[in-house]
Amino acid sequence: MHLSLSTSALLFVSLYSTLISAYRPVQFVKHTGQSGRADQAFSLVNYYNETTQQSDLYVRMWMFRYKSSANGWASLAFGPRMIGSFMFIIYGDPSSTDDMGFTIRTVDGHHPPRPLDEFKEFYDGPRPDVELLSSRFQPYTGEYYSEQYKMKPSHIGEAKFIVHGYEKWKKTELEITNSTTKQAMIWSSNFKQDFQGDFSFARHVDMHAFGLGFGFLWADFKNAVSPYPFFEDINDLNDHTGVNEIADPSPPTAEELKNGEAIIAKQAAIFAAGGAAPDTDSSNDTPATPDEAVPDTGSSNDTPAADDGTEVEEPVKSPKQWNIRSLMWHLHGGLMVLSFLVLYPLGVYLLRSPRPTAFNLHWTVNSLSSVSVSIAAMIGFVNSRSISITHQYLGILLVCALAVQTVLGWRHHIIYLQVQRRTWMSNVHLWLGRVVLPLGMLNIISGLLLRQYGWLTISLTIAVAAIEMLMLVFIIARARTHRPGGTQKGPSAPTADEAEEYFQLTGADDDDDDLSDDDVGGSQGGAAKKTQDRADQQKRLARLDKV
Ligand SMILES: *[C@@H]1O[C@H](CO)[C@@H](O)[C@H](O)[C@H]1NC(C)=O
Ligand SMILES: *[C@@H]1O[C@H](CO)[C@@H](O)[C@H](O)[C@H]1NC(C)=O
Repeated sequence: MHLSLSTSALLFVSLYSTLISAYRPVQFVKHTGQSGRADQAFSLVNYYNETTQQSDLYVRMWMFRYKSSANGWASLAFGPRMIGSFMFIIYGDPSSTDDMGFTIRTVDGHHPPRPLDEFKEFYDGPRPDVELLSSRFQPYTGEYYSEQYKMKPSHIGEAKFIVHGYEKWKKTELEITNSTTKQAMIWSSNFKQDFQGDFSFARHVDMHAFGLGFGFLWADFKNAVSPYPFFEDINDLNDHTGVNEIADPSPPTAEELKNGEAIIAKQAAIFAAGGAAPDTDSSNDTPATPDEAVPDTGSSNDTPAADDGTEVEEPVKSPKQWNIRSLMWHLHGGLMVLSFLVLYPLGVYLLRSPRPTAFNLHWTVNSLSSVSVSIAAMIGFVNSRSISITHQYLGILLVCALAVQTVLGWRHHIIYLQVQRRTWMSNVHLWLGRVVLPLGMLNIISGLLLRQYGWLTISLTIAVAAIEMLMLVFIIARARTHRPGGTQKGPSAPTADEAEEYFQLTGADDDDDDLSDDDVGGSQGGAAKKTQDRADQQKRLARLDKV
């Protein structure tokens, strides 16, 4: 009994060792201070898919972040130099989002790399199909302590992706082949670039850090062949294995092979148990069902089934995934769109309309809109993990401005009823309104960009906002031309006294902004008494708003 067990075990071992000659895990680890400035790591597994008859590379790519910094990026590429290389770049904000930016790039010369589609003239040949299974940050739980920074990293950004048919890329100077022991690769990093919260696929990336932020490496693909597809673990306390930064990698040592054998045995056990998780992390859990084992071949926005949730890794949250946070962001955006693209413009329009209730409609609609903005802003505030990007700062500024707007509008009205003329509050209310509305529209567009909406949605929104602004300008201009002397232009600005005079004489119908119909009686009484002098003065004063 004992004998047969060990014999079958032996048989099993010899079976898979005939299948593969050897497996040596490939890992590259470079913390800042380890002859270079990098804070990044990766592991590679070389898998030949019999069905597709092509070689796939299972890449786990890491970048270490200190003090939750959102700056910089890490990059890895196939090829001996940047030009024509097949490049992967990761970037993101560990504190404000789970979703880390991941992009595939190349470059045709000495400028920043761009997505492949933008270099069709440079290379339009076959390309590998990259399947991104996850890209996100997690708190760093490892043991590495940086002597340089005198602390441990705070976060680790991890991308797991499969490069299906990596041999297809033909733009590097040396071919990429599944049997090479010295695949030329490059790495680089940048610690400074502030992405301003935009971690989209096509995001511009600044140059890598000068000096030590760039390097070459050669990776042994041949010995990284595994009969099972999986993402190899990275031990960031260890240095490189199967990789060399200055020469060809040395042949695998007996210890490396023994290590590799254990890893493959573990994978074999997982597959034998009916599961197939291309991820060693989940090997201690119940194996995934065969269905889940098939990596999702859809776009990177789909939820990868193979990336099952273990204790360490939460389920992937991709930008388009439907969850409470996402729902809240939609609510935030929806209410803001309702306010800035519908209600506020309507409020301005209503004020200009000849209706006797123009003023009442104006303040009712605008108050409603402000309530909607307040709710949306609160949702945004609660949903945000940190306040660090322009969209957020502008949003806060707009909310403050709107609070001032409300107070000013109300005070202006009360005082107007008493003194029958405009005060400084009226003017500030008017001009603040003209600033806040377009800025609010801009922030809606920046919000759409942040959520990575398509160009169609974004250009439609820009078009709607632009048309609305043009219409409002037209309506305001027309309201003014209907006023006596309104069309005249002159070089000199009216004085404050003149301005007061002007407002005193103007009725609500042809008034420039927000004077109420309940104000009409008094002002028109004054207007009736106007002399030729006053009419002349009016002409000059009417320029007040012609800016
Ligand atoms: C490399 O690819 C060829 C087909 O292009 C295949 O026959 C061979 O088995 C592959 N070798 C490895 C080590 O995956
Ligand atoms: C191999 O390729 C086939 C066809 O695309 C695919 O269905 C299968 O999932 C692949 N196997 C692995 C392990 O990726």
